[in-house]
Amino acid sequence: MNIRIGTDIIEISRIKKTIEDTDNKFIERIYTNKEIEYCESRKSQKYQHYAVRFAGKEAVFKAISSMLKNKFEIDWKDIEILNDSSGRPYVNILKSKISDKINIDISLSHCKEYAVANVIAYIEMDVD
Ligand SMILES: CC(C)(COP(=O)(O)OP(=O)(O)OC[C@H]1O[C@@H](n2cnc3c(N)ncnc32)[C@H](O)[C@@H]1OP(=O)(O)O)[C@@H](O)C(=O)NCCC(=O)NCCS
Repeated sequence: MNIRIGTDIIEISRIKKTIEDTDNKFIERIYTNKEIEYCESRKSQKYQHYAVRFAGKEAVFKAISSMLKNKFEIDWKDIEILNDSSGRPYVNILKSKISDKINIDISLSHCKEYAVANVIAYIEMDVD
């Protein structure tokens, strides 16, 4: 069992601008339907939730990159960040080729300007 960490921080205004500039194309490329449903339900606060999920996906990628032969093996939408009934976030890896070899724990936080994500990945295979 190998343990890897990943972290990411992002300016919420950057994600807001990208979403607005791309007329939602960015949302369709990055987020799953369930993630979109969650973020849109947050109405005017939605950019914080989109931003922290973007940071979360980057943090997951950083944690698991050593198990990927090349970064194109995983797509943004293969990493899905949802919340349990208490609000605690969790990660679904939707790519079956690697999902049975990793367990991921994630923690998210956001304020007015920044969103941050931390990830711990438990990887059941040899990694560099
Ligand atoms: C859950 C709680 C910790 C969230 O704190 P917060 O400062 O409001 O939240 P932040 O803005 O930093 O982060 C929000 C993220 O927290 C995460 N979160 C929400 N509820 C959570 C929970 N129960 N467990 C873990 N993470 C949680 C979510 O990912 C959320 O982002 P999302 O909605 O986009 O997914 C807070 O509302 C709470 O209940 N605090 C009580 C603490 C307490 O009881 N302390 C006593 C002794 S320590």
